[in-house]
Amino acid sequence: MKIGFIGLGTLGREIAKRLKDSGFELLVWNRTIDKAIELGFDAVKSPRELADLVDVIFVIVFDSKASKEIIFGKEGLLGGSIKGKTIVDMTTNEVDYVIETGRGLKYVGVTYLDAPILGSVIPAREGKLTLLVGGDKEKFNELYPVFQKFAKTIIHVGDIGNATKLKLVNNVVLGGFMEVLAEAVAFGEKVGINRELVLEVLANGAGKSMILDVKREKLIKEDFETHFSVDLIYKDLYYAEKLAYENKGILPAIGLIKELYALCKKEGWGNLDFSAVYKLFR
Ligand SMILES: NC(=O)c1ccc[n+]([C@@H]2O[C@H](COP(=O)([O-])OP(=O)(O)OC[C@H]3O[C@@H](n4cnc5c(N)ncnc54)[C@H](OP(=O)(O)O)[C@@H]3O)[C@@H](O)[C@H]2O)c1
Repeated sequence: MKIGFIGLGTLGREIAKRLKDSGFELLVWNRTIDKAIELGFDAVKSPRELADLVDVIFVIVFDSKASKEIIFGKEGLLGGSIKGKTIVDMTTNEVDYVIETGRGLKYVGVTYLDAPILGSVIPAREGKLTLLVGGDKEKFNELYPVFQKFAKTIIHVGDIGNATKLKLVNNVVLGGFMEVLAEAVAFGEKVGINRELVLEVLANGAGKSMILDVKREKLIKEDFETHFSVDLIYKDLYYAEKLAYENKGILPAIGLIKELYALCKKEGWGNLDFSAVYKLFR
């Protein structure tokens, strides 16, 4: 099976490396082509060219606007020989976008899988990501061995759209926990307790969580090198709020928390890891 891969961002590149190291014939396209070359991938000039040369295309880019450009744009996948092939979109997208895209692509004989990722750079390197997949079950089964090269937990969640809904629900918790953790740590320091001790107590108390486990060292060292950026969590919380609005749901705390990430962006920290929200309170 020839695999095409689009999007060599912080997470995308780790998944692409695992697929390449697993022995798959892998061709990539990235908007900034130099990144593909620096990372040692075989690169093509456009998504359109990629569609001609491979059987299945993994897409993992910033947002739905980028995904749309890659699939439907001037030099997009649809311009190539894509009929009968599959697009696995691992971007964290808007729900409406994946549903409409799945419907539209089916009409022209292309299978589209809605396949967002849970987990970040470290689990990606270890092949321990979680992959949620919505869409054609047969195609899911066929691609399962490929998914296993980078994901440990792989769940088919029903129709296209369900995976993205679940991903946004998950990121409400992710963005919320990170912000509350940052606020609590800064509060502890403000009342005279050192940061390491605050984190140690939280890790054994009410703060015990996946997010504390993975961000503890980063907070201690004030290492905000990006695994998952402020820009991305802001985008995901915006998508979640939009989905809540469209369904007459409410996300009152997230409305505020999203704006705190917006303040981080305003400070110029959009490219930093989202744990940099701690800097607001410190
Ligand atoms: N990082 C994580 O831990 C994580 C975890 C779960 C899910 N996700 C999701 O996975 C996706 C990718 O995350 P990431 O961390 O790899 O993102 P990232 O580091 O911000 O990289 C974004 C990628 O999208 C490309 N891109 C952006 N706008 C584009 C456009 N208009 N046309 C074509 N390509 C475009 C970028 O190309 P250039 O190289 O040219 O900029 C880059 O390859 C996001 O949807 C994110 O929400 C990330």
